[in-house]
Amino acid sequence: MCWIFAYNGKKNSLPLLIDGLRTLEYRWYDSAWIMWVNKDWKVFYKKAVWRVSVLATEVENDEESKNDYTTWIAHTRWATHWTVTKNNTHPHHSENNRFYVVHNGIIENYKELKTELEKKYKFYSETDTEVIAKLIEDLFEKDLKTTMQKVSKRLVWAYSVAVVDIENPDTIVWIKLWSPLIIWEWDSEIFISSDVNALSSIAHSYVRLEDNEMVVIKNAKYQVFASWKALEKEVENMDIDYDTGELWDFSSFTEKEIFEIPTVLENTFKWRIDFESKMVNNETINELNELDIDKIEIIASWSSYYAGYMWCYYFKELANISAQVTISSEFLCDTFIPSKKTLYVFLSQSWETADVRESLKIVKAKWGLTFWVVNVVWSTIAKLTDMWMFSHAGIEVWVASTKNVIAQVAVMLIMAIWMWMKKDLQPSKARALIEEIWDLPNKLNKTLTNWPKIKELAKKYSKYKSMFMLWRNVLFPAAWECSLKCKELSYIHTECYSTWELKHWPLALVWPDFPCVVLNPTGRFYSKNVSNIKEVRARKWTVLWIITEWENDPDLYDDVIEVPKTDTLLTPFTMMVSMYLFAMNLAETLGRDVDKPRNLAKSVTVE
Ligand code: F6R
Repeated sequence: MCWIFAYNGKKNSLPLLIDGLRTLEYRWYDSAWIMWVNKDWKVFYKKAVWRVSVLATEVENDEESKNDYTTWIAHTRWATHWTVTKNNTHPHHSENNRFYVVHNGIIENYKELKTELEKKYKFYSETDTEVIAKLIEDLFEKDLKTTMQKVSKRLVWAYSVAVVDIENPDTIVWIKLWSPLIIWEWDSEIFISSDVNALSSIAHSYVRLEDNEMVVIKNAKYQVFASWKALEKEVENMDIDYDTGELWDFSSFTEKEIFEIPTVLENTFKWRIDFESKMVNNETINELNELDIDKIEIIASWSSYYAGYMWCYYFKELANISAQVTISSEFLCDTFIPSKKTLYVFLSQSWETADVRESLKIVKAKWGLTFWVVNVVWSTIAKLTDMWMFSHAGIEVWVASTKNVIAQVAVMLIMAIWMWMKKDLQPSKARALIEEIWDLPNKLNKTLTNWPKIKELAKKYSKYKSMFMLWRNVLFPAAWECSLKCKELSYIHTECYSTWELKHWPLALVWPDFPCVVLNPTGRFYSKNVSNIKEVRARKWTVLWIITEWENDPDLYDDVIEVPKTDTLLTPFTMMVSMYLFAMNLAETLGRDVDKPRNLAKSVTVE
């Protein structure tokens, strides 16, 4: 998976490209390169099998990069299939060194194509992108535009492929199927990016390419084609507030995003709940009023899946409506039987996750009623789904999703309360919950004040190789989400079970070196959890409690993190924030790169 940024114009756009690469480095950080073509059709490129800073120094020290060139392309890569080596780093070229190719996506039939092409050409890398370069050479006819029409028919998705023919170095031809691509034209200059964020700080407007469209960029002008016909494209306003911002006093951007959570919640609630009348008020939710829905099926991936799981509790408990959540990759493997009275909710903070988008296509193809909760206001999803709601979390830059997960849970909590009120089940209880919600951002601020204590505890727990996370009921998905964050950021192995399950088999793992983190708020399951934990303590396991009320019984725990008391249904918010801090501090203590966990990228855009 990669990000591509290209320029066609009359200036030296090196600083812009380097800035763009830096902006997007959070997403793809295995390797990076920059290529430029001079007036004598000579191609220059620099590759770095590491971070953008290494590439920037190399390019800036190269005298050739100081001149004005018409065509520039930059690229960062996150290797999905092949090793991170200079040979595998883009751009890839044809055997005659005439065509240079950059690619974002994965060519699923690359093996068949490679076997066919190996009879004529020698391959120097393991990548599918080199296969495209050789295919272009093989199918070349007349010009690049004609050739790329033929090439696109041989490629199985997903791709966004840019090609430079060095016999016409002022031209870039770009084809796209599924992988995103946007263009900005300004003052005789063309900028193209596979991610809108990289353009958001410089562009006022943009044009979005749809699947199977081709763009030909020449002499700082562009023309979009579909099935050979030239198209007039709609120009959209760039109203994205993209803030990678300053670190201020935070030690990582992940930490900064966790500390933004109380404000994010205020924003999510602000436009949808009237705290004076204690009513939910939202146009999109009101539209649901007209529909005859008796079931909600949520389809999402990992952290979004856990957020979806929490909704199931909300829908069932508050709105008395049946709800289930399915992991999107498995949804794709299963047989889909549509139901007219089901609302299919898709949950993805990025909207780019390949399996979630493909699941949406399957449901749409069978006329299922679709609803999307998305954080990216400019996404095409609004056009694809019947209804949508924005989570208003602000762009989440760093790999681990934190403030977005919280915003997703909040959006659906509001929706469940609205359905609850519509059915007029227990209006006074609904209003009491809204009052609790009003105070939730304050309680999260209080939770964050535990930070120094959590930091100290992380020092102690970072010495363990494995941990249990234990829970019941609505804290089930919350504990899974906390467990994911511990693994993702600190690489400490965690297992996650209901305290109830311990006797079934997890007790077999009982060992003093395998501590338990127990999420145990005051409420219905408190004393049952206490009783289960006594079994653990009897076997001398180390126990860390996350609780809402202090129980002065050191026999029950070694350590405690206390969070403010709130309604049981709202405890996932306070518990998750504490655990996000815990996971992040474990990682920091172990010297991990919290913002860029190993082998991961922000968006999983290919299968
Ligand atoms: C974990 C994390 C990922 C995402 C998953 C789905 O911290 O961020 O596991 O939750 O890749 O992403 P979205 O929500 O963009 O579909």
